[in-house]
Amino acid sequence: MKVKLRATSLLLLVTVLCSAGVFARSQQVNITVKANEPGSILNKDIYGQFMEHLGRGIYEGIWVGEGSSIPNKDGFRLDVLNALEELQVPLLRWPGGCFADEYHWRDGIGPRESRPKTVNSNWGGVIEDNAFGTHEFFALAELLGADTYVNGNLGTGTPQEMADWLQYITSDAPTTLVQQRNANGRDKPWKLTYFAIGNEAWGCGGNMTPEFYTHLYNQWASFAKTPQDNQPIMIASGGTDDSTIWAKTLLEGVKPSWNIRMDGISHHYYTLPTGKWDVKGSATGFAEDQWFSTLEQTLKIEDYIKANVAVMDQLDPEKKVGLYVDEWGTWYDVDEGTNPGFLYQQNTLRDAILAGLNIHIFNRYADRVTMTNIAQMVNVLQAMILTDKEKMVLTPTYYAFKMHTPFQDARSVPVSLSNTPAYEFNNKSIPALSASAGISQDGNTYLSLVNTQVDSAITINLLAIKQATGWLLSSTKMDEHNTFAQPHNIEPTTFNAKVKNGKGSLTIPAKSLLVLNLGKL
Ligand code: AHR
Repeated sequence: MKVKLRATSLLLLVTVLCSAGVFARSQQVNITVKANEPGSILNKDIYGQFMEHLGRGIYEGIWVGEGSSIPNKDGFRLDVLNALEELQVPLLRWPGGCFADEYHWRDGIGPRESRPKTVNSNWGGVIEDNAFGTHEFFALAELLGADTYVNGNLGTGTPQEMADWLQYITSDAPTTLVQQRNANGRDKPWKLTYFAIGNEAWGCGGNMTPEFYTHLYNQWASFAKTPQDNQPIMIASGGTDDSTIWAKTLLEGVKPSWNIRMDGISHHYYTLPTGKWDVKGSATGFAEDQWFSTLEQTLKIEDYIKANVAVMDQLDPEKKVGLYVDEWGTWYDVDEGTNPGFLYQQNTLRDAILAGLNIHIFNRYADRVTMTNIAQMVNVLQAMILTDKEKMVLTPTYYAFKMHTPFQDARSVPVSLSNTPAYEFNNKSIPALSASAGISQDGNTYLSLVNTQVDSAITINLLAIKQATGWLLSSTKMDEHNTFAQPHNIEPTTFNAKVKNGKGSLTIPAKSLLVLNLGKL
């Protein structure tokens, strides 16, 4: 009787431990990177950053002004500037977002002390003193060596105001506007890489139907004139989530035969742990159910991209028009005690894992998805950097982007997995392993891997390689994050796989992002 009881208790203990994931099943995957089957270029602008006049994203986060006690270069805080330089930011999108459709560019030029003060009605109703305007935006881009993406104001502007802004930015003809730019301190035109007519036309950009917006796009784009040698890539405001009607209506209705250029259609998708806007979920302190649901939600973007690409392939088989996911990332309930209009949230290992998954998905559609912007660069939503007055901290998402810098303008190559283990939770399942590879500009092949599971490591055999060294971002805690008091809680660590006779073997820990340099294959 005594023995029987012990056996039952042991069985119970094993069952409990197994369901808690303590005795995780061992998973093995063979991976072959097919470096001799090069695919599309992974455009560097996939790593673009979004900066909106929202909360402390620009003011305090980037711009502190020349007179600030925070060390700065021409008003840009130096610590943030240095961190962004390290990140090799390829592209900056500005000034919004919803803010763009209420932004009047003339408010942001000329002597700062005489710029008008306006209300930021989208984000907290705070006073906007317009200290950061066109000159400051392009100065920042030049300091970082980044491409530029300006979002025009269709909602409350006029075609004339937009045309004037384009002239002010791009022209070197001796017009009064250009002379005004010269007088404001800039002789040469700036390089404008992308220009969008409106933002989220289906929502904060004016609550329009796709048909109505398409008519407006044709009208407004007719007046978007720039010099031949400084023509921006023109972007139309597209859909969100699962919608494809915007891509379809735009491709059917915008008229290249009238000389209307539409080089890209934007698409927005935010990841909410609960999938609900009223209670989105917390940035930290979550349990495994929200770890899982967040990753499950984010993976939906692949279906949305696939559906839009299918529509675009039908209506634009030559792939002249890009699908630009120019707002993506996590959106949580704001951190307690912060202004709800400022969208400030902590950033954890979960965000880095999610960034890795999104990057892999974008890479799979690299012939269409040639530009994306994570929302947003500093202090807002899924940020790279958080600041608190003079303090600055780098987030796990920053490190995820940094680890992927070799992928900027790399050539994608296929990765074949012998099997894709599943991560199962509460009768639901997502892939446990995600992979993406590219041949970098330096000739080396890089492999990026994500293990989505909370408890299980995966054993990986890398076939036909010479070396495998790189960076690992991982932790035992799902919500590991850096704080102003403890800024180094989570950082990438160096990683070396064992390589023998052209075969590498490694174990990717649970909850990990790993980027490996496989050398010249
Ligand atoms: O990134 C925050 C907001 O999200 C943007 O202003 C808007 O375009 C989107 O709804």
